[in-house]
Amino acid sequence: MKILVLGASSYVGARIYFDLQKKYEVVGTYANNRLSEKLHHLDITDRQKVSELISEVKPDLIVHSANNANARWCEANPEAAELLNVTSTGYIVEAADAINAKLVYISSFAAMNVGNVYGRSKLQSENIAKKTKAGWIILRPSYIVGFSPNTTNDRPFNRLLRNLDDHVKAEYDTSWKFQVTWVGHLSEVIDGCIEKNMYKKLIPVAAQELKSRFDVAHDILTPFGVTVYPVDKKDNLPVTKDDLFKLKTLELPVYSYKEIVDKIIAEIKVRNTFTISRI
Ligand SMILES: NC(=O)c1ccc[n+]([C@@H]2O[C@H](COP(=O)([O-])OP(=O)(O)OC[C@H]3O[C@@H](n4cnc5c(N)ncnc54)[C@H](OP(=O)(O)O)[C@@H]3O)[C@@H](O)[C@H]2O)c1
Repeated sequence: MKILVLGASSYVGARIYFDLQKKYEVVGTYANNRLSEKLHHLDITDRQKVSELISEVKPDLIVHSANNANARWCEANPEAAELLNVTSTGYIVEAADAINAKLVYISSFAAMNVGNVYGRSKLQSENIAKKTKAGWIILRPSYIVGFSPNTTNDRPFNRLLRNLDDHVKAEYDTSWKFQVTWVGHLSEVIDGCIEKNMYKKLIPVAAQELKSRFDVAHDILTPFGVTVYPVDKKDNLPVTKDDLFKLKTLELPVYSYKEIVDKIIAEIKVRNTFTISRI
C-alpha cells in the first residue's frame, strides 16, 4: 500500500505522515514549509501539477490534509479560501480517479457550522471527496491536540507548547465547549479503515466529553508545572458536538478525554522521538 500525504508539513499532516510511515510506504508534499527533505513540492491550487505529481507517485491512497484551517483567514479571504479548500479538492479527486486511487479527506467538525466561509468550505469539499470513484473516507476531527513533528504552525496544541517552552503566560477561555480530538487517533482510524478495507464512510473522530480550552490546557500543562489561568471570553461559537457511535459501530479505536490527556502527557515526555529527521 503506497500512501501520498498532501500537506505533510501541516500540524496534522506531519503527524499522519510520521505515524503511517512506520507501516506503509508514504510519500508527502509541502507547499511553503519543507519540514523534511523527503517531501515533494506541490501547490494544490495548480491543477496541472496536481495531476502530474499524483500520476507520477501513483499512490493507492491519498490523505488530503492541505487546507487552510484558520477560520478568520478564510473569512477575510473568501476567494483564496474557496480555491484552496474547495476547488483544489476537485483537482485531487480528478487526479485520483485517473489512477484509481482512494482518498482520505481531513475535514472538520466545522463542516457542521456552515455559517462561516471555513465551515462551508469543509462541507463543500466533503461533497467533492465523496465523488472519488475508487473509494473515500472523510474524517471529521474537532479541536485537535497532541504532538506533531510540526511544532511551529500556529495551531492550538503548538500554543500549549509555547506556554511550556517559552513560558508564555497560559490564559485560556472557559466559555466555549467542544469535543477533543487526539491527533494520533486520526492515523489510527486511517490505518483501521485500510485494514478493514472500509471506505465510503464519514467518521467523526473525537472524545465524547465536552471541554473548554481552559480544561484542555490545564489538564495537559499542570503535570509539567505550568499554571493555567481561566478567562471567560464569552465566546459564542456554536457548540460543535457529534455522537461518536460511528467509531464504535465500525469497530475503530475510541478514546475518552482522560485517555487522550494521558497519551499527550506521555507524548510530551518523549517529544524528541517526533523530530523531523525521522520523516
Ligand atoms: N488543527 C486543528 O485543530 C484542526 C481541527 C479540525 C480540522 N483540521 C483540518 O486538518 C487539516 C490540517 O490542518 P492543520 O491544523 O494541520 O493546519 P496547518 O498546520 O495550518 O497546515 C496547513 C497546510 O496546508 C498547506 N497548504 C497551504 N496552501 C497550500 C497550497 N497552495 N498547496 C498545497 N498545500 C498548501 C500547508 O503547506 P505548507 O505549510 O508547506 O505551506 C500546510 O501543510 C485541515 O484540513 C484542517 O481543516 C484541523
